[in-house]
Amino acid sequence: MGIFVSIHLDGSGGSPLYQQLSEQIKVFIMNGLLKEDEKLPPIRKLAQKLGVNNVTVVNAYRKLEQAGLLYSRVGSGTYVKSDNHTRKPYAQINTPAFSEQEYNIPGLNIMDQGRLQIPAGAYNFASATPTPELFPVEDFKTILNEVLDRDGGSAFAYQEGQGYFPLRESLSMYLKNKGISANEGGIQIISGAQQGIDIIAKSLLQPGDFVITENPTYTGAIAAFKSRGARIIPVVLNTDGISLEDFQAALEQYQPRLMYIIPNFHTPTGICYSQEKKKALLNLCQAYNVTIIEDDSFTDLTYDAREHQPIKMLDRNQLVIFIKSFSKILMPGLRLAFLLAPENIIPGLLKAKHSSDISTPGLIQRAFDLYLRKGLWEKHLEYMKEIYQQKYQVMLEAIENYLPPEITYSKPGGGLSFWLKLPPGSSANHFYTRCLEQRVIISPGSLFSASEQRDSEFFRLSFAGLYPEEITKGIIEISRCYNEGKTPSTSTEYGYSPML
Ligand SMILES: Cc1ncc(COP(=O)(O)O)c(C=O)c1O
Repeated sequence: MGIFVSIHLDGSGGSPLYQQLSEQIKVFIMNGLLKEDEKLPPIRKLAQKLGVNNVTVVNAYRKLEQAGLLYSRVGSGTYVKSDNHTRKPYAQINTPAFSEQEYNIPGLNIMDQGRLQIPAGAYNFASATPTPELFPVEDFKTILNEVLDRDGGSAFAYQEGQGYFPLRESLSMYLKNKGISANEGGIQIISGAQQGIDIIAKSLLQPGDFVITENPTYTGAIAAFKSRGARIIPVVLNTDGISLEDFQAALEQYQPRLMYIIPNFHTPTGICYSQEKKKALLNLCQAYNVTIIEDDSFTDLTYDAREHQPIKMLDRNQLVIFIKSFSKILMPGLRLAFLLAPENIIPGLLKAKHSSDISTPGLIQRAFDLYLRKGLWEKHLEYMKEIYQQKYQVMLEAIENYLPPEITYSKPGGGLSFWLKLPPGSSANHFYTRCLEQRVIISPGSLFSASEQRDSEFFRLSFAGLYPEEITKGIIEISRCYNEGKTPSTSTEYGYSPML
């Protein structure tokens, strides 16, 4: 029975037994504990050993066969498949989050340990974070003093891992006001949305699991999933959300554990899912038993009459883990966000959080709690919306007035960025370098690719980090770069990757 003696199945009503069994066998295969062409124990024998029905083992083997990890020989038994495309040794899958392959786009020295290099004095259209003079520093000074007067040294003690209880209380009120029912037990405080994605990956993924993402998407999420040995299945994004046809095909083929989406003012495209698509997506995830990670950084930043709701609002079956970041509206350096998850997932998240940073700093949590309770968050949100809306308008007018008509774009109506497209066959990587030479930083679409695609015609321009007059000047500069540098996209001047 070998390694199979270590299998433990939990019959207390969590995930189905066959699923638990298939996941544990998968880990053996991924870790090389079961070798290629090794025979698995006969169904009846394993069922007997585990104290389960034969059908449980049959279903587990079948699931792994469908995933391309096992094969069966009639009359002989079930074996580990020797297919290197579907199965890689653990060490190979578990590449570092920001490996060279990830970000070192050939010929384009664009990322430095996950950061873009920005020359001093450049027009930075790559940053989607607010400028520091907008931070509510005076309010925070007052609040921090109030917390310290009230709580003294306790504010500097370790905070409970799930988060400061009064903050979880005020966040559950915040969610209820948005039409999302939540209680404190389902809320986990995190040190930024990025940590939220990371601890979800840590607690729910096994090496070799499949995760569906939109393509393109926020690459910080891809890096977190890959760092757990997960395999990414990118799905095409249409203007109203993910392609349901492709999504269903991916569900059938890969039986993913998780999907990660940004349904409102998506990064980087700015699209918002239609209400119908949100509902259809939930139905499919229910049918295929997939947990959705909804990343919400931008829903509050709407500048037109359209209303957008988080998918979590429609979630009647506890399918969605909702992550809310405050970085884009408040202060990214607070490193404060929260997630709302089905309560049965919280213990696993808590373990993962503990092994990451034990807890989010208590002083910051207490300060933010007071900030919410005093109604300062709502006030600040309105202020930031006004500022961002003005910048959005300036950017829209500058694009309309100064960019050549061959560069196309859509109006997101919210968020912090525009997604633009160069004429067919152009290289956005090439264009990035040309703009960089003129001290203008754009984000080429390749930075957001969830697939192997290393270049495209798309690029993103964010207005969050620039003043209105800089936005106009920067767009004029981009237009000049385009008009003066109309070199054929096949140029090898920079040694770029071939156009895909
Ligand atoms: C879509 C998306 N999710 C998550 C994050 C990370 O946010 P946080 O600062 O809360 O970790 C970002 C930051 O840019 C983002 O764009």
